[in-house]
Amino acid sequence: MRAHADRCRANGLTTALVPTMGGVHAGHLALAKKARRLADHVTVSIFVNPTQFAPDEDLERYPRDLDADVDKLGTFGGVDLVFAPFALYGEGAAAQKVWVDSGELTTHLCGPHRLGHFRGVATVVTKLFALCRPDVAVFGLKDAQQFFLVKKLSDDLLFGVRIVGVDTVRERDGLALSSRNVYLSFEERAQAVVLSRSVEAARRAILKGERSPGRVVAAMRRELERSALARVQYAEVVSTDTLAPIEAIVPGRQVLAAVAVFFSATRLIDNAIVRAPRP
Ligand code: PAJ
Repeated sequence: MRAHADRCRANGLTTALVPTMGGVHAGHLALAKKARRLADHVTVSIFVNPTQFAPDEDLERYPRDLDADVDKLGTFGGVDLVFAPFALYGEGAAAQKVWVDSGELTTHLCGPHRLGHFRGVATVVTKLFALCRPDVAVFGLKDAQQFFLVKKLSDDLLFGVRIVGVDTVRERDGLALSSRNVYLSFEERAQAVVLSRSVEAARRAILKGERSPGRVVAAMRRELERSALARVQYAEVVSTDTLAPIEAIVPGRQVLAAVAVFFSATRLIDNAIVRAPRP
């Protein structure tokens, strides 16, 4: 992979990387399309990264179908290379001694609920950057905390990789596409619409001039409570700079309204990134 990346560079081609864990859906394809417009050569990586799953999470049942994924990425056409390493941890994750600390950006939202998750993400993204040496990397805003973390990682660790975000791709009823949606039962799938409704309620409230994070959270929770099957893990409004809760929503500043909800053992997330209007 590194030799290939170096050859691209030697030939004067700019390169884009789209990291994924497979289970390719239209959200991933939107990232690849964006990458296509940003660079001469597009690589999509597929690697189900074991170190970002907590012991009680879905590593074992995570969807794995490399042939189908390559077909989709190939049919879509914009992708030049699918990089699907068999392993990225040499002797295995247990033997790895050096990790990338995800720092203060992960003390809220998903961080405290998924111990070790963002350390695993920051570490594997670092490995992928080291191997692929892209000029630009494309990430989905659906995983907003991951997006802001990776942006800061590239800046703070001096990778110089430009990090570009892509808006969340949704089903017709608003549910954000996710590789995990396949776990939902028929009833759960119908009720999962409350996630997008909840973050849209937050967006509406903020755009109408609501300044109290507490009242925005209350509006989000009201939407989530419409589903009898949903178990809310968190509903929060944070600053997009610090990813920490704020005292007030300040006109002109950008905030992130985010939710995490369980349906049975399936954990879904959604968010809205909103700039508070000036009066
Ligand atoms: P994965 O969940 O496969 O997602 C790969 C990329 O697709 C991420 O940047 C994610 O934000 C984006 N994505 C997922 N669903 C989306 C949707 N509905 N609309 C737009 N983009 C969407 O995120 C990961 O993998 C991993 O943590 C990874 C970064 C690959 C590191 O292992």
